[in-house]
Amino acid sequence: MKILVTYKSKTGFTKKYARWIAEELNCETKDIKNVSSKDATKYDLVIHGGWIFGGVISGYNKIKSFAPKQLIVFGVGFTPKAKVDLKKMAEDNKLGDTPLYYFEGGTNPPKMGFVGRKVVEMVTKEKVAYQDNTDRKATAELLKAVKAVK
Ligand SMILES: Cc1cc2nc3c(=O)[nH]c(=O)nc-3n(C[C@H](O)[C@H](O)[C@H](O)COP(=O)(O)O)c2cc1C
Repeated sequence: MKILVTYKSKTGFTKKYARWIAEELNCETKDIKNVSSKDATKYDLVIHGGWIFGGVISGYNKIKSFAPKQLIVFGVGFTPKAKVDLKKMAEDNKLGDTPLYYFEGGTNPPKMGFVGRKVVEMVTKEKVAYQDNTDRKATAELLKAVKAVK
């Protein structure tokens, strides 16, 4: 099965997950900005990861518009996994039947930009500090699901 992992990442955490997943599946990974509709349909499965802003999984609408044969999505945010309502996230992003996974990212102030930092500080009511909550093991469930159909 030909698999492509696409990602949209502002500060690098989602890209890190995309790389880990592609490494495990021994497949290609690409920034979504370098993917065309023609590319996407060449694969049996596209796994897309997007960083989350205001509940929106970035890049999802773009990859969906490319109509890949099969699609799996993962969102990466700073919310602790235990506090994430996956069903609500799927509904809010109009994912329909597309399988959705959530992984914890982090915050990297210098790469977030002034506005990004201010928005996060408004939401968290704390000064934003460097934090990396990425965990390669978190991808196990997604990988298991992919390997079951592979
Ligand atoms: C403007 C802005 C809005 C955000 N909104 C959310 C959010 O709604 N939920 C969440 O869990 N994380 C949110 N985050 C945190 C990012 O999703 C998190 O830092 C993520 O790891 C960034 O991934 P990246 O490194 O791939 O860009 C927000 C960050 C910014 C800058």
